[in-house]
Amino acid sequence: MKYIEFGSEKKKVSVIGVGCMRIADMTADEIDVFVKSAMESGINFFDHADIYAGGKSEEVFGTVLAAEPSLRDKMFLQSKVGINSGMYDFSRERILTQVEKSLANLRTDHLDSLLLHRPDVLMDPDEVMEAFRILHDSGKVLDFGVSNMNPYQMQLLKTGVTYPIAADQMQLSIAHCPMIDAGFNVNTMNDGGTMRDGGTLEYCRMNDTAIQAWSPLQQGFFGGCFLGSKDYPELNALLDKIAAEKGVSPDTIAYAWILRLPGKVQVITGTTKSARIASAAAAGDVELTRREWYDLYLAAGKILP
Ligand SMILES: NC(=O)c1ccc[n+]([C@@H]2O[C@H](COP(=O)([O-])OP(=O)(O)OC[C@H]3O[C@@H](n4cnc5c(N)ncnc54)[C@H](OP(=O)(O)O)[C@@H]3O)[C@@H](O)[C@H]2O)c1
Repeated sequence: MKYIEFGSEKKKVSVIGVGCMRIADMTADEIDVFVKSAMESGINFFDHADIYAGGKSEEVFGTVLAAEPSLRDKMFLQSKVGINSGMYDFSRERILTQVEKSLANLRTDHLDSLLLHRPDVLMDPDEVMEAFRILHDSGKVLDFGVSNMNPYQMQLLKTGVTYPIAADQMQLSIAHCPMIDAGFNVNTMNDGGTMRDGGTLEYCRMNDTAIQAWSPLQQGFFGGCFLGSKDYPELNALLDKIAAEKGVSPDTIAYAWILRLPGKVQVITGTTKSARIASAAAAGDVELTRREWYDLYLAAGKILP
């Protein structure tokens, strides 16, 4: 497993994170095994949001810490705030209220990281800063970041917020990588040349902001897993081939493809299966060659001008 130094605290955080969006229906026994097997494979990073299953995902996870509080210090816990019943809401009140709920649900006294979940165009950066300062000064949140934000939105936030933006969590997989397509197709008339994210990869790299890839195995917006999908025959054939050569499974290669990007990059897997957590963790030890990386990109149906 590889680790990055995260935010101002410089905590050592695994490049593979366990996304907890889909865990709400696990029993106490299942979640206990799931979390511990992830930690045994070197993963210390767990990603939550106040809205996952209406707070139930955090609650289910909290049962593990309630039973064994000593695990908390070995974990890096991140949650998100800012989505509020059909609107995005970065108001001071919403941020403070939801963080209290997340802390109670997770059975912890602090979050290692708090992300603003989706950009609220009505945000007031000074108001966000007020909320962040209260959370930071009270020790309830150690570092801050964003999700689904482009560079100008991060710059705007920084007009008020003086804490570093430690991470930007973005949808990113071999099958969904407009951030990468745009970089290859600058100034062309190709579809890939449409700039959808404003240069987020480059911005994050220049500003020591970690890119956290969400839905690393999904096609489209929750369109299903591309592994084994008939929509991606060439990609699956190549993933299988490289996986066999390296003695790992195809999902490991799909995660390693994301981690091959320079800068601080993390993958948030959404699997609920311990065996699949193990193959995600294995990606932290696989380094793809430049040739393999580009061949996988092309096999996913992308073009290079
Ligand atoms: N910031 C945001 O806006 C945002 C948005 C969405 C998600 N997220 C975060 O990102 C995390 C991951 O998102 P995600 O769950 O969409 O990611 P994902 O890992 O791409 O997808 C997970 C889904 O794929 C299935 N899957 C995994 N491996 C598979 C395989 N080899 N074959 C077939 N199916 C497979 C899983 O089923 P099994 O459980 O059966 O393995 C699960 O249903 C979330 O938990 C959340 O923390 C953030």
